Amino acid sequence: MKTQRVLTGITTSGTPHLGNYVGAVRPTVRASRLAEVESFYFLADYHALIKVGEPARVQRSTLEIAATWLACGLDPDKVTFYRQSDIPEIPELTWFLTCVTGKGVLNRAHAYKASVDKNNAANEDPDAGVTAGLFMYPVLMAADILMFNAHQVPVGRDQIQHIEMARDIAASFNHLYGEHFTLPEAAIEEHVATLPGLDGRKMSKSYDNTIPLFAPRDQLKKLIMGIVTDSRAPGEPKSTEGSALFQLYQAFASADETAALASAYADGIAWGEAKQALFERLDREIAPLRMVYDELIQEPERIERTLKAGAEKARAIATPFTARLRHAVGLRPLQVATTPAATKGSKTAAPAFKQYREHDGLFYFKLMGAHGELLLQSTGFAVPRDAAQVVTRLQREGPAALEALATQLTILGEAGDVRAALRWFSERDA
Ligand code: TRP
Repeated sequence: MKTQRVLTGITTSGTPHLGNYVGAVRPTVRASRLAEVESFYFLADYHALIKVGEPARVQRSTLEIAATWLACGLDPDKVTFYRQSDIPEIPELTWFLTCVTGKGVLNRAHAYKASVDKNNAANEDPDAGVTAGLFMYPVLMAADILMFNAHQVPVGRDQIQHIEMARDIAASFNHLYGEHFTLPEAAIEEHVATLPGLDGRKMSKSYDNTIPLFAPRDQLKKLIMGIVTDSRAPGEPKSTEGSALFQLYQAFASADETAALASAYADGIAWGEAKQALFERLDREIAPLRMVYDELIQEPERIERTLKAGAEKARAIATPFTARLRHAVGLRPLQVATTPAATKGSKTAAPAFKQYREHDGLFYFKLMGAHGELLLQSTGFAVPRDAAQVVTRLQREGPAALEALATQLTILGEAGDVRAALRWFSERDA
């Protein structure tokens, strides 16, 4: 059984590089194959708008990152793989969360504070060039996570504070409106390497020292030949410590291969030769993935379809959950909540099951409370008799049947109201 929900997003603001692959894509694809986790991976394109003001780049990056995940073995049938902006419930939840988030909490977010500190140092207005989008970044991210009640969120260290904020925001909401959200935790992969870039500093787009993951072979080779080394001549023993070349090799090679390169360093391997070894080792892992990637990138419509199918899966959760949250915060239809039962006729108010057919051709039922409020909503059934059987069972067994029928129901009302309504039926029929 899948007990843990894991969720993570990648901002669609650039071209995936080796550091993204080793630090995020490769471990995540491996983790997604574990039977006991239910994984959600998404392209954070709303987040991209915060940093990127170039529409074509956002679109291109979305395509490249989606193709990268798929080429690296993410199986969209086994995980929920979607694009953030295909889920309109996310911005709606962002607003609900915004209204329970302290402004002071956001003032302390690292990314925002860094901008303010920079402005202060330059004697500028503290908020010069800072958009409200940057300020709100952590709330949007909290909505991503809380919408799917993720337990674990694999992220880099720089994102830990955001996960802590998501927890705080979830706790504030739960405190005010009832237990709706799971409190998420950051999952930091301790043993995953941070890759050095061409200049030896951490590989990062902001240092302009990256090696694109799917650079064509000859470009990959050229970039590797340009990795910074010291000036030791061929034959002179070389140190593996602090060698970017060595660390890159290690991230791809087995323990034996790594040990072999270490002794070659001690024996004075020429830098050119070591670079050639790195190139070959890297290309061995990447070439088969690159082939798939190059094919996928030629077929954007196919990726678009995959993302749309993922969005449908995600919205099967997000839509009913958001309906429940709307109800919880008081965004409710007026006629049902405010019409006193007595004005509806002479009959005493009682809960009721309503069965109906939807446009999709399937048969559904819902349970309405004594005042017409929506308490339960079923999934679709192919034949009406199956829907009726579930209704009968709920009426006979009352709240005790809820757990066994959980996969066929979405609870939209307060748990206490749902139980009370079901008890009404079971006591009537007893
Ligand atoms: N902020 C993350 C990053 O830049 C991307 C992201 C957006 C994310 N929403 C998320 C990661 C939700 C995890 C969960 O890396």
